[in-house]
Amino acid sequence: MASTFTIRVNGRQHAVVTDADRPLLDVLREDLGLTGTKFGCGEGACRACTVILDGQATQSCITTMATAADAEIETIEGLASGDQLHPVQQAFIDQSGMQCGYCVPGQIMSATALLREDPHATREKIIDAMTGNLCRCCNYGNILAAVEQAAARE
Ligand code: FES
Ligand code: FES
Repeated sequence: MASTFTIRVNGRQHAVVTDADRPLLDVLREDLGLTGTKFGCGEGACRACTVILDGQATQSCITTMATAADAEIETIEGLASGDQLHPVQQAFIDQSGMQCGYCVPGQIMSATALLREDPHATREKIIDAMTGNLCRCCNYGNILAAVEQAAARE
């Protein structure tokens, strides 16, 4: 049975009438029109759907609305400040961190969550945090270079 859930996405509050077990990813894409967050496997295995939920990189395809309710959610659409890209977004451009680009929103959200916790994360920590973010184009070298660039900034 549908219920009303309140979620806060990129600083804006939304009331969504839906089922408690519906994935957050579906609500973001289909109800709120935030299609920057991508559907990959739908099973928690690729992290294309990563958002930041209460500060943690989270797979939105396996996060139900019951879990997401009342949480603070950030998606790729919320990272830039006006025309000013977030440093991690800029680093992906500078280091050619995208080929087809499908995995990139998830990569950027995982990296952003990591660098908020550890702004100058080491290469080892970056690899450890980003390992589950799959890239079908195998652009891992450039993705790592991008996150390292963002981690090296003052
Ligand atoms: S789409 Fe969510 S982990 Fe693959
Ligand atoms: S850039 Fe194509 S899947 Fe990663």
